[in-house]
Amino acid sequence: MAKDKTLYSCNACGGQTPKWTGQCPHCGEWNTLVESLAAASTARFVPLADQRRGSVLLPDIPAVSTQRHQTGMAEFDRVLGGGWVPGAVMLLGGDPGIGKSTLLLQTLAKVAENRRTLYVTGEESLEQIALRAQRLGLAAAPVEMLAEIQLERILAMMAETRPEIVVIDSIQTMYSDALQSAPGSVGQVRECAAQLTRQAKRLGLATVLVGHVTKDGAIAGPRVLEHIVDTVLYFEGDTHSNFRLVRAIKNRFGPVNELGVFAMTERGLREVGNPSALFLSGQRSEVPGSCVVATLEGTRPLLVEVQALVDTVQGGIPRRLSVGLEPQRLAMLLAVLHRHGGVDCGQQDVFINAVGGVRISEPAADLAVTLAVYSSITNRSLRDKLIVFGEIGLTGEIRPVQRGQERLKEAAKMGFTHALIPNMNKPRQRIENMHVECVATVSEAIQRCRAEA
Ligand code: TYD
Ligand code: MG
Repeated sequence: MAKDKTLYSCNACGGQTPKWTGQCPHCGEWNTLVESLAAASTARFVPLADQRRGSVLLPDIPAVSTQRHQTGMAEFDRVLGGGWVPGAVMLLGGDPGIGKSTLLLQTLAKVAENRRTLYVTGEESLEQIALRAQRLGLAAAPVEMLAEIQLERILAMMAETRPEIVVIDSIQTMYSDALQSAPGSVGQVRECAAQLTRQAKRLGLATVLVGHVTKDGAIAGPRVLEHIVDTVLYFEGDTHSNFRLVRAIKNRFGPVNELGVFAMTERGLREVGNPSALFLSGQRSEVPGSCVVATLEGTRPLLVEVQALVDTVQGGIPRRLSVGLEPQRLAMLLAVLHRHGGVDCGQQDVFINAVGGVRISEPAADLAVTLAVYSSITNRSLRDKLIVFGEIGLTGEIRPVQRGQERLKEAAKMGFTHALIPNMNKPRQRIENMHVECVATVSEAIQRCRAEA
């Protein structure tokens, strides 16, 4: 078979050239050209989703509600929005060794009890997987295994055995005959993902692609991969702690930012149904530099301890380091703390950390960060059994957050007795065993803490 002609297309502008150059001749960007297939092979332009000819009026299209199947792993189903959808393509990204292969093997083993499945491995040998299955107590699960990295053969296998759910572990190890570049190159990853997506839609089978994460945290391969697939899931967590979180970044069939929580044990991943108290350091006595925030992950309130350490600069420029919280936001909060709270960290190193390897992107954590920093710099602990939440604005005002009542209730359930929250989140009804104080500004919040300490 003659090889298809290859072209180089620009990741930035989409322009094409027959020869690779460092700079795109169309838009002038550097290092954006990647190998792709020549446009001449028109058969390649098959739409990703099913399409019909001509236009139709929206009301005339029957809205078929998506039917879902449960995987049997409740936490995984929760992230997917209630189960997997036939024909959906999911991308699961995460650091090496975080547990992607383990999670998917466990999931397929559950699904295989009453459906046909296929696990394609390009990284580990079948024997290695059998060993893992044994360790997980899944050696008897009827999951069909295939050790293969050549895309066309995988597509043929999918068409032949018609599984309902397929796992490709990982997309970076697969290659298509149509391209000459090595597996893992941008062109290959994109081509393989597109072909697998087409096949998944055509046969109505759900596909999970495992994707590696590069050093700077993005799924290797072009961003376009995230556009091709229906759902993007990230597996996160601190490899030093046992907890693992699966988060939906994009989901065409359900909500995003829903969180699945697992614990890694010696017998694989165990689901954690009620994670609200996981991210507390367990250190109950009062220590300076610690503040608990009631944050919201998807639909569930989660209590997370935010720790801060403020220390005199050891020569050079003051450092601001944040683990699990947004670094830009930290800089802003320190400025607000200075201007509106009268607390100066200008000549101090500031480190903040969300306990347990969790990542908080919600601005509701602003107040907790600010108070943790304040507590560390004054070396005075905040009140015991205190939870806070609230977004902070540039003028020092404390803005309300969503679903304050629920956060307070969860905190009360976990034994917290005091809350410091935005004025506008004042609960309408009294909350059992919870003393709630409302504040409108950062300086007010600091005054309260000063009075209580
Ligand atoms: P793995 O699923 O291979 O990660 P990935 O596919 O994301 O690279 O997970 C491997 C890690 O999980 C490894 O460090 C060992 C650990 N592990 C357990 O702690 N318990 C277990 O039962 C299994 C199978 C793995
Ligand atoms: Mg793996």
